[in-house]
Amino acid sequence: MIKLIETEDGSHSLYSEEFQVSYHSKFGAIQETKHVFIDAGLRYKAVLKKDLKVLDIGFGTGLNAFMTLLEAEKKGLQVDYTGVEAFPVDWETAQKFNYAELTGHPEKEKDFHKLHGDNWGETIKYSDTFTATKLKQKFQDLNFDAQFDIIYFDAFAPGSQPELWEQPVMQIMHDALVKGGVLVTYCAKGDVKRTLKAIGFEVEKLLGPPGKREMTRAIK
Ligand SMILES: C[S@@+](CC[C@H](N)C(=O)[O-])C[C@H]1O[C@@H](n2cnc3c(N)ncnc32)[C@H](O)[C@@H]1O
Repeated sequence: MIKLIETEDGSHSLYSEEFQVSYHSKFGAIQETKHVFIDAGLRYKAVLKKDLKVLDIGFGTGLNAFMTLLEAEKKGLQVDYTGVEAFPVDWETAQKFNYAELTGHPEKEKDFHKLHGDNWGETIKYSDTFTATKLKQKFQDLNFDAQFDIIYFDAFAPGSQPELWEQPVMQIMHDALVKGGVLVTYCAKGDVKRTLKAIGFEVEKLLGPPGKREMTRAIK
C-alpha cells in the first residue's frame, strides 16, 4: 500500500508501507529535491555545460523530472532526461500531487501529468529544452555505457533497501557516467561514501537540505 502524505513545506509525497519509508524528506519534498538534485546536481554541472544528460534513480512521484523540466526552461538548458522506475505510481495518485501549484507553475500541470503517462520506453519531447524517457526496470538490471552527466541517486534509504547502496549497483552508476559526471544523493552514510570511494569516485560532503545535516556528491 502507498499513501499520499504532506511534507512540512506543504508539498506532497508518498509513504510506502511495503518499504516502511516515505519518498521524500518529511521536512519538505520540493525543498529537498531543489537542494539535493537541482542545486547540487543540475546547476553544478550547468555552470560548464548547457547540454546535459540526466539519469534519475528512480522516477517515483516524478518530482525530480518535473523540477528538472522547469529548471531547463528557466536556464535555457538542453536536458535529455531518463527516469528509471520498477514500481510506477498509479495514474489516479499522480493526478493528486500538488507540485505544479507549489513550484509556482500551475500552467505546467499538463506536462506533469504527461510525465506520468503510460509512455514507458518512449522518448517524449516536452519543449525545446527538455526531452524525457522513462524505463520500467530495476536499477540492478541497468547496463548503460558512459553517457550521463548527472545521476540523481534517489533510492529508498539504505535502512530499507541496503542492496541498492552496495558495490554492484554503485558500479552500474559509475559505468553510466561520463568522466567528470556527478552522482548526487540525499544520503550521507559513511558506508555509502566508502563504497563510492572504493569504486573510484571522488566524494564530497555537502550541507544537507533543511532538517538534514549532510548530503553527498560523488564525481567520476
Ligand atoms: C525514494 S523514492 C523516490 C523517487 C522519486 N525520485 C521521487 O521524487 O518520487 C525511490 C523510488 O525507487 C523505486 N524503487 C525501489 N526499488 C527499486 C528497484 N529495485 N528498481 C527500480 N525502482 C525501485 C520506488 O518505487 C520509488 O519510486
